[in-house]
Amino acid sequence: MAHILDGKAISEEIRAELKTRVSELKEKDIIPGLAVLLVGDDPASRSYVTAKERACEEAGIYSCEVKLPATATQKEIMDVVQRFNADDQINGILVQLPLPDSAMEEAVIEAIDPDKDVDGFHPMNVGRMMMGMPAFVPCTPNGILHILKRSGIETAGAHVVVIGRSNIVGRPMINLLSQKTELGNATVTMCHTRTKNMAEFTRQADIVIAAVGWPNTLTADMIKEGAVVIDVGVNRVEDSTKKRGYRLCGDVDFETVAEKASAITPVPGGVGPMTITMLLSNTIESAVRCYGVE
Ligand code: GUN
Repeated sequence: MAHILDGKAISEEIRAELKTRVSELKEKDIIPGLAVLLVGDDPASRSYVTAKERACEEAGIYSCEVKLPATATQKEIMDVVQRFNADDQINGILVQLPLPDSAMEEAVIEAIDPDKDVDGFHPMNVGRMMMGMPAFVPCTPNGILHILKRSGIETAGAHVVVIGRSNIVGRPMINLLSQKTELGNATVTMCHTRTKNMAEFTRQADIVIAAVGWPNTLTADMIKEGAVVIDVGVNRVEDSTKKRGYRLCGDVDFETVAEKASAITPVPGGVGPMTITMLLSNTIESAVRCYGVE
C-alpha cells in the first residue's frame, strides 16, 4: 500500500510558518491583502473562493470579495479588476476561473496588475517564470513541488509524466519541473487528450501527475510498480448516500493505484490544501515586495 502524501498536514505546517511571517509584518504595520472576484454562481467555484477567504483569515491576511452575476459584461469585470489594481490595501488579486464566458478570460487576466497577480496567470508572470526569472508561480504546480520536496521525493533525474495541458496546471508544471532548480531537473513528458497510447508513457514515469478533470483516468495498469502519483483532480461524482448528493474524487482510481504506487496524494486532502497555501504565500510575498521589507 502506498504512502499517503498528506497535503493537508504539509499545508498546516507551511501555514503555521506563514502565520508567523504575517505577525512579523504586522509589527511593521503591514497587513497583506487579497481581493477575490467571483463571477456567477458555480457551486465548485463558490466553495473554492470560500476556502481561500477562510484560509486568509486564519493566516491574518486581509481579504475582500466582489461577486458579480453570471451575466456581467467584460467591462463590468474589468472595472472591478481596475479598482483592485488601484487599491493600496490589496497586494493580491484573484479572479476565480473559469469565468461563465471563457472568451473573456485572456483580456481579464491581462488587465490584472502583474505585481498583484498572485495566481501567476498574467503573461508577464508566465513569461518570467518560463525564463527562470523571479515571478509569481501558479499555486497548484507550486503546491505539488512543495508536497514532493517536503516528502523527500527527488525530482532531479526523475521522469515525470504530466497528464493535462491547461494553463493553470499542466503547462506551468512541466516548465517548473524541467528548470535547473532545486525542485526541477526532471525529465518531463506531457500527455493530453490527443496522446496516442497514453499508458505507454505513464508506465515509464517515476512520478505521474494527473490533471485531467475526469474521474478514474489513471488506473493501476497505467503505472509502474513503485511510482509516485499526484492527483490534481477535484471531480464531483453523484452519490445519493451523501447528504450533499455528491462526493469528491480525483482523476486517479485511488483504490487500485494505491496498491501499486509507492506514494499517492488523496482527494480531498492532497493537492487542494496546498494550492490555497501557495496562494497565501504569494500574497505575503507580494506585500513584502510592495513595501520593500525583508
Ligand atoms: N480555478 C481553478 N484553479 C484556480 C486557481 O488556482 N486560481 C483561479 N483564479 N482560478 C482557478
